[in-house]
Amino acid sequence: MTRALIDLRDLVKTYDTGEVPFTALKGVDLRVDEGEFVGIIGKSGSGKTTLINMITGIDRPTGGEVVVAGAPVHALDENGLAKWRGRTIGVVFQFFQLLPTLTVMENVILPMDFCAMYAPKERVGRAMALLEEVELADQAHKLPSALSGGQQQRAAVARALANDPPIIAADEPTGNLDSKTADAVFGLFERLVDEGKTIVMVTHDEDLAERVRRSLHVHDGEIVEDRLRVTALEEA
Ligand SMILES: Nc1ncnc2c1ncn2[C@@H]1O[C@H](COP(=O)(O)OP(=O)(O)O)[C@@H](O)[C@H]1O
Ligand SMILES: [Mg+2]
Repeated sequence: MTRALIDLRDLVKTYDTGEVPFTALKGVDLRVDEGEFVGIIGKSGSGKTTLINMITGIDRPTGGEVVVAGAPVHALDENGLAKWRGRTIGVVFQFFQLLPTLTVMENVILPMDFCAMYAPKERVGRAMALLEEVELADQAHKLPSALSGGQQQRAAVARALANDPPIIAADEPTGNLDSKTADAVFGLFERLVDEGKTIVMVTHDEDLAERVRRSLHVHDGEIVEDRLRVTALEEA
């Protein structure tokens, strides 16, 4: 049996802070195949960020298995995790998280330096190609603070693509953008899916949630709905 690109089995996350432990994920099972565009929706506090942090290995589960691109993420040590993440999964955050003292170009090169998947002399050219793909080539040598929010998020997407990972994980990537800019960033994600990337995106935006092919509704630490949108083309 082939495993899905993302395979979560009976995933439990209990936070130990405070007086009483709090279980934010209550035995989640989820499989995502290559090429899917998955939206994660749900109220604030329902467990969406916790779920995405399990997939990216940013945080560790209390129980269950996380297998992503064949790697047992729950069992990797910090070093293994960082190497695996760099090659396998590009992460995009709500507040961009570009390094403020590096230029846009340097931000995109950083993950390449870390993973050493591309030869040093290829990295500048590759970063420029990625910045062209997100229409930021003319901003390459500026600091992030000189860019608009939408431009910074597109730079963050270029950085996420640095090592050509099969998966992009995004936690409310449009949450800090106006609707027109949000639409442009979403359009970029749609294009990446068309090019073969697999995307898992948490969103608060109902309109965007309607546009992803598969949406997962998270409520109180459980996936309560897993919905496939049938496109007009498929209906015909
Ligand atoms: N580090 C943490 N320590 C304790 N509780 C946490 C921590 N992170 C999240 N939680 C709790 O877990 C629940 C789910 O949080 P989160 O995954 O951030 O939800 P969402 O992203 O859907 O808003 C919330 O009740 C939150 O307060
Ligand atoms: Mg969240």
